[in-house]
This record gives sequence, structure tokens and C-alpha cells, in this order.
Amino acid sequence: MSNKVSIVGAGNVGSIVGYSLAMQGLAHEIVLVDRDPDRAKGKALDMSHSASAVRSHSIVSAAKSYKDIEGSKVVVITAGFPRKPGMTREDLLFKNAEIMRDVITNVREYAPDAIVVTVSNPLDAMTYTALRVGKYPRNQVIGMAGILDSARMAYFIYEKLGYGAGQIRASVIGGHGDFMVPLPRYSTVAGVPLSDLLTEKEIEEVVERTKHAGAEIVGYLKTGSAYFAPGKSTAIMVEAILRDSKQIHPCAVLLDGEYGVKNVVNGVPVMLGKDGAEKVIEVTLNPCEREQFRKSTEAVEEMINILEDKFFKD
Ligand SMILES: NC(=O)c1ccc[n+]([C@@H]2O[C@H](COP(=O)([O-])OP(=O)(O)OC[C@H]3O[C@@H](n4cnc5c(N)ncnc54)[C@H](O)[C@@H]3O)[C@@H](O)[C@H]2O)c1
Repeated sequence: MSNKVSIVGAGNVGSIVGYSLAMQGLAHEIVLVDRDPDRAKGKALDMSHSASAVRSHSIVSAAKSYKDIEGSKVVVITAGFPRKPGMTREDLLFKNAEIMRDVITNVREYAPDAIVVTVSNPLDAMTYTALRVGKYPRNQVIGMAGILDSARMAYFIYEKLGYGAGQIRASVIGGHGDFMVPLPRYSTVAGVPLSDLLTEKEIEEVVERTKHAGAEIVGYLKTGSAYFAPGKSTAIMVEAILRDSKQIHPCAVLLDGEYGVKNVVNGVPVMLGKDGAEKVIEVTLNPCEREQFRKSTEAVEEMINILEDKFFKD
């Protein structure tokens, strides 16, 4: 497979994405771009050595300039500042929107056909920024959050049960943040509905912990935020795109009437393939879930409006 993937932002998350892809031999060429070129060089060399160790054909290199991303099938964007303890995702809005504008301008120039996977926070607003700056069709830009949030929920379900690890399918839609919408009704353990295994109170505890999982990790780490699961979740999306797997994953995409929402990015199940977000899947929601999804959409819309008023008008 001569697939080429570029990763802009060779920090914690970007490194795990690159490392996961290299270990699986998913891409022949992996290019790291960072505003700190030595960081990209050092990590690229280290990852290439790991690939050699497992006899993977993946070659990881550091970009000298954006020209080196030419020919990428997928570009992952993790450039940006992570949340610091006590900082909300919204605090990051303008700082990271500026970075996203710079990155997308270059990606559009040197890898115009690449599928773009955004990771930088606040995720939904940054995905919107990428789409808006690059004037992309909506299938071409996809935000990573739902796979991570669902994986976190699955783990917390395991913690409550004490069994079933690896067999848990949890479902989370909505925005990446305080207004995410975990869907216990659509979560199962080897096909057994969660409601047959946990009490309502236990399920509520799982939901709450899932919503605050990112902050819980930030609290322990003191500096920076989670990166193993975010990096691996991103690599899963890249794999689905490169393999044209047509598998469904929860991702952040621009909605165009689905769920009664237009022109707002939000997390929903999406079929991923070589053309990126090839199909948006509509899940039947009950009135309570619909209300939560509406609130979540409103929260993203608020950030988009702030960006439109204060960032894009400059
Ligand atoms: N979507 C999610 O679920 C999720 C999960 C975890 C982290 N994140 C976000 O991902 C981003 C990265 O997190 P991290 O932990 O890897 O941070 P990090 O600080 O370890 O890495 C960020 C990297 O981006 C680089 N960078 C900054 N500006 C750049 C620019 N203009 N061009 C190129 N490179 C640039 C930095 O030099 C650094 O190496 C943050 O915004 C974080 O909040 C999102």
C-alpha cells in the first residue's frame, strides 16, 4: 500500500497517530509537520526506528516545508494548544482557530484532495473552521471525537460491570464537550442491552463520568491532556478512510438537514470511506435524547456564531 498520510502537529496526540499507523504498516509514507521542526525530526526518526523494529514498511519523515505533504491521501490536524487544568474548550477557541486557518491554507494549497481529519479543540468549532477556511465539500473534513467518547464510555461500563472488556459497544453522539450525548439505549455488551446489566443509577454514573473523562485525565496529568486514546481513535478513522472500509464511526461532520440541523458541525454516526464522510446516518432518538442533541447543537452553534462575528470578520 503506497498510502501517504501527513500529520500536522507532532505533539502528544499527533505522535500517537503516527506511531499507531506506522506500527500497523497502514501508510507507506507518514509525514510529520510541526512549527518546531526539531520536534518533528526527532519523533519521525524515533518512529521510523520502531517501524524497523517490527519490520513495518512505514517510513516516517519530518516535513521541511508544507510542500512535503503533497500527494497525501489523508491529512490529520492536531496542531493547537491542549486544555490546561481549569481551562474550558471554549477558552481555546480563538487561539486554535488562528492556527487552524494557517494550517488549512497550506493544506489546501499542497494537498487539496486530501481527506482532512481534525483533532484540535474545541473540536466541533475547529472542524467548522477548517471547512470554512478551505471551502471544502462537507465529506472532505471530519472531526475526531465520537470514537474517543464512545471508547471512554465503554471503559466506564466495564468498570461498573467488572466483565465484558472488549465486547462493549457504547454509543455517544453530539458535540465534544460538556454537551455530548451518550446513548445508553444504543449501548450493549456482546449484544445485551445495558439496561439489562446495570441499574438506572449506575448508567447515569457512567454517562456523567464519560462526559467529564477528558477533564478527569487533565486533572491527573497536570500539564497537557489525554493522548493515547485520542491518537488511537484518530488512527482508526485514518484506517477506515485508507482501506475504504465503509464502516460506521461516530464523527463530527457538517450537518445539512440531518437531525433537523443545517450548517452546524456535530457528532453523529458516519460511514467512512476513501471519500471521507460518505454517508451520514440518522439514529432514531427519543424526545429526551433529541432534546440533549438540540442543546449540544446549540452549544456548537454559539461557538460558530462567535467565530463568524469576531474571527471571520477580521
Ligand atoms: N478531539 C479530541 O477528542 C481531542 C483529544 C485530545 C486532544 N485534542 C486536542 O488536540 C490538540 C493537540 O493536543 P496535544 O496533546 O497533541 O498537544 P501538544 O501541545 O502535545 O501538541 C501540539 C503540537 O502542535 C504544534 N503546533 C502548534 N501550532 C502549530 C502550527 N501553527 N503549525 C504546526 N504545528 C503547530 C506544537 O508545536 C505541538 O507540537 C489540542 O488542541 C487538544 O486540545 C483533541
